[in-house]
Amino acid sequence: MAKITYIEPDGQRRELDVPDGCSVMEGAIDNGIEGIVAQCGGGCSCGTCHVYVLSGAAGEPGEEELEMLELVAAERKPNSRLSCQLEVGPALEGLVVQIPDRQY
Ligand code: FES
Repeated sequence: MAKITYIEPDGQRRELDVPDGCSVMEGAIDNGIEGIVAQCGGGCSCGTCHVYVLSGAAGEPGEEELEMLELVAAERKPNSRLSCQLEVGPALEGLVVQIPDRQY
């Protein structure tokens, strides 16, 4: 379980306890967080689960994720990540992600 803070596109902050082994994307979808679409269901092939990591130890994106990040709809930034590729565990405790205003 890790505490993850999601900042929705309208600026609302929502803090959730997300179970270990889930992705940050799944934590959002399961709890009705606004702004994450996750069209491919976590397969790293749609880019509609894009977030900006504001703080926390998210590690580095893999090759596949880097390629998909080139196709995201909102501006890609140095802290852009695909939330389906962020697996929740103790290392992600306190992660804060901001959801962009569009995923298409
Ligand atoms: S859910 Fe499709 S790339 Fe993350």
